[in-house]
Amino acid sequence: MVRASSQSEKAPRDRQQASKIALVGFGTVGSAVARLLYARRGEPALELTHICNRQVKRKKVNWVSERVCWTDDIEEVLRSDVEVVLELIGGLRPAYDWVRKALEAGKSVVTANKQVMARYGSELMELARRNRQQLAFGACVGGGIPVLSGLSQGLAGDRLFKISGILNGTCNYILTRIESGASFAEALKEAQAAGFAEADPTEDIDGLDARAKLVILVRVGLKAEVLPENIVCRSIRDLAFVDFQYAHELGCTIRQVSRAELRDGRLRVAVEPALVSRHSPLAAVEGGENIIISNGEFGGETVFSGLGAGGNPTAVAVVSDLLYILGHPSAQLAESDRPAAPLAEISSDFEARQYLRLVVKDSPGILAGLAGILSKYDINIDAVFQNSGHDKAALPFVITLEATQSSRMEAALAEIKGSAFLIEAPLRMPILS
Ligand SMILES: NC(=O)c1ccc[n+]([C@@H]2O[C@H](COP(=O)([O-])OP(=O)(O)OC[C@H]3O[C@@H](n4cnc5c(N)ncnc54)[C@H](OP(=O)(O)O)[C@@H]3O)[C@@H](O)[C@H]2O)c1
Repeated sequence: MVRASSQSEKAPRDRQQASKIALVGFGTVGSAVARLLYARRGEPALELTHICNRQVKRKKVNWVSERVCWTDDIEEVLRSDVEVVLELIGGLRPAYDWVRKALEAGKSVVTANKQVMARYGSELMELARRNRQQLAFGACVGGGIPVLSGLSQGLAGDRLFKISGILNGTCNYILTRIESGASFAEALKEAQAAGFAEADPTEDIDGLDARAKLVILVRVGLKAEVLPENIVCRSIRDLAFVDFQYAHELGCTIRQVSRAELRDGRLRVAVEPALVSRHSPLAAVEGGENIIISNGEFGGETVFSGLGAGGNPTAVAVVSDLLYILGHPSAQLAESDRPAAPLAEISSDFEARQYLRLVVKDSPGILAGLAGILSKYDINIDAVFQNSGHDKAALPFVITLEATQSSRMEAALAEIKGSAFLIEAPLRMPILS
């Protein structure tokens, strides 16, 4: 929950009067927010006056007050005396335009929209400041986990340099199923049937959802600005059961890991599947849980974890932001919310040990050929793993490599990919300690 605000000249609210709230988007999160508001009725004085959704008639429910105005016209909300708009429609447009319009109309906004905040967050926070309104977006990352307020306020006294985490429950679910022996296609189908994955799962499995959250974490925690498209994202699509078998031999499991590290104005940032030690907190995260680990120069490591999605946990984050706004109408622009300093460099060039899985048509000299290419790039082989029982015409084996930069690894891989003995493209993952 990070809020851009500058309301020092705003007239103090008459405490006897209920604050008027509009819900824009009455889907999973929007309806959970409404239920939570009714469950909390009376503290503090707030009144849900508008619910806005396209084709709103079919959305009507009988458990909201008869006084609520159901509308499919956002202009009706903007013209009203609503103080806070809760934007819960999702997607970039029209959500971005509606958040802008609400701020310009003198309304504070709470949003759960990671796409909008990842792409336009700085601009919208500046707009909020100019219009003396607040913009809160705690629900954008980690669902019900108060990680953004934890980073921006709880750890404001530290200088954070690293954030890593598991930010997407769908990937977690799919990876756990592959670990139990399912193929990627089977695991995805199951995730869709269980309601964990969308019909089009691209955003989740190719890392775009986690990337948007990482942009926001980098802005709030590391005080740096990066565009989503500048973050390297690697999919979990190519993972197979055999990767977990080899990962287990290495004392690891596999997770989709989002990480960012800032040193001397240089930001390294990536979303990718990675081997993580079975003793790491990242390995313990299951199903819809999320975890975010921050590292500060003074305070060391802090771990935030909990339910990263779902109507109720996300509604808690939205309502917490709302209550903060209503309780702090004169909140000042915090130092920690100031725009970021420019970066000298943005890359995904982390240094780490590497896991390289190759599927080959077995023949003599394969290992020597690979070693030759790797040594050209100054990459040292650590160990070779080849389990028995595989077809020699499509033999999967794994090479682990000593710590090297991912750019160097990619350059070597580009050359390895041309090898005639390969049956499929090699799979590379960093091994995180
Ligand atoms: N669900 C979660 O677990 C979760 C967690 C964290 C953050 N979030 C974020 O919360 C936001 C809402 O997610 P959700 O899961 O509640 O989505 P949802 O269930 O699809 O609800 C979105 C609602 O907004 C309405 N809507 C969409 N576009 C609209 C438009 N152009 N005009 C008017 N109404 C429109 C939809 O109407 P229709 O019924 O016609 O589609 C639907 O009722 C998103 O930004 C999402 O990323 C969700």
